[in-house]
Amino acid sequence: MLRFFIHKINPAVHESTTKKPGIRKSIEVSVALLCLGSTFFFLTENQVLAGPHKVLLPKIFFPETVFDFGIADEGVQLKHSFKVQNQGEKDLLIKTAFSTCGCTIPQLKKKRIAPGETVDLDVVMDTSMKQGDVSKPIEVRSTDPVNPVVTIHIKAKIKSPHGELGSDRTAKIFTGRCAACHVQQGIGKEGQDLFEADCAMCHGYRAKGIPSVAPPLIPFDYHDKDFAESMKKIISEGSKIHRSMPGYAKSAGGPLEEKEIDSIVDYLRKKSDFELKPH
Ligand code: HEC
Ligand code: HEC
Repeated sequence: MLRFFIHKINPAVHESTTKKPGIRKSIEVSVALLCLGSTFFFLTENQVLAGPHKVLLPKIFFPETVFDFGIADEGVQLKHSFKVQNQGEKDLLIKTAFSTCGCTIPQLKKKRIAPGETVDLDVVMDTSMKQGDVSKPIEVRSTDPVNPVVTIHIKAKIKSPHGELGSDRTAKIFTGRCAACHVQQGIGKEGQDLFEADCAMCHGYRAKGIPSVAPPLIPFDYHDKDFAESMKKIISEGSKIHRSMPGYAKSAGGPLEEKEIDSIVDYLRKKSDFELKPH
């Protein structure tokens, strides 16, 4: 608007910024305006000069940042396509799209998005072993200088199990691609190291639980034999009420020997003692 105003009262200013031979004239005009000492003129003149040299920026935009699948079955693949728009004036490059659990995989058809273009970001979530409310963040990193990291979410309410987890059924987290994170990093480890490799992703690195994923395992009285036994039983055979917690004992189809499970219970006892003792 101001630019238009200037253009009207002094066409030379506008012309000078678009045509090279006029640059000298433009400098003369700005010097003259500066000499007038008017802030108003100084600012508008600056804007006029800045016009053609304006820095063009990409701008990421998600028309939808949360998608809720509603009630869904366990053991299925849920798919949703988010739209990613470039509302900027320069190509937008998507560097990564990533979710913490490998059960959720975001995929982008194209990484370079032209100004004004919209591209699908397909997200697939494997609901195997999930139960109740599940929410997964997907972190999208791009070359947008203002919002370099945008987090979008998918949600679902996974139906309760029809039956209890039987020992005849090998839990999916112990198999195939899932095992890479949920089992393999713990092989050959024991105690705290084994806990951090196999259990911490759900129960937290300090065993204090992660809200809406898994409960805290400390601080409790693991010197109470019955209590320690009951915890060991859940680790070995799995939870009867929540399918995210499968039996880890070899006898239940899991990856751990009894002495490895004992080493975790030992670690939880020591960690609890440390937390409970007066500091
Ligand atoms: C890249 C490593 C990785 C892979 C591969 C992986 N997970 Fe996970 N998983 C995690 C992490 C980290 C968490 C805890 C954080 C979270 O909930 O996102 C987790 C949590 C979970 C949970 C409990 C939380 C929830 O979402 O209800 C379940 C169930 C689960 N994973 C199942 C699976 C299944 C099934 C597979 C294979 C299809 C799988 N995971 C593959 C890393 C992985
Ligand atoms: C994929 C997520 C996940 C992983 C991995 C996992 N747990 Fe769990 N765990 C849970 C959930 C969810 C519960 C709650 C079950 C319930 O309410 O019965 C649970 C319950 C427990 C309980 C019973 C807690 C209580 O208060 O009753 C113990 C003990 C336990 N887990 C230990 C472990 C150990 C040790 C490991 C590693 C060897 C492990 N968990 C790995 C999700 C997980």
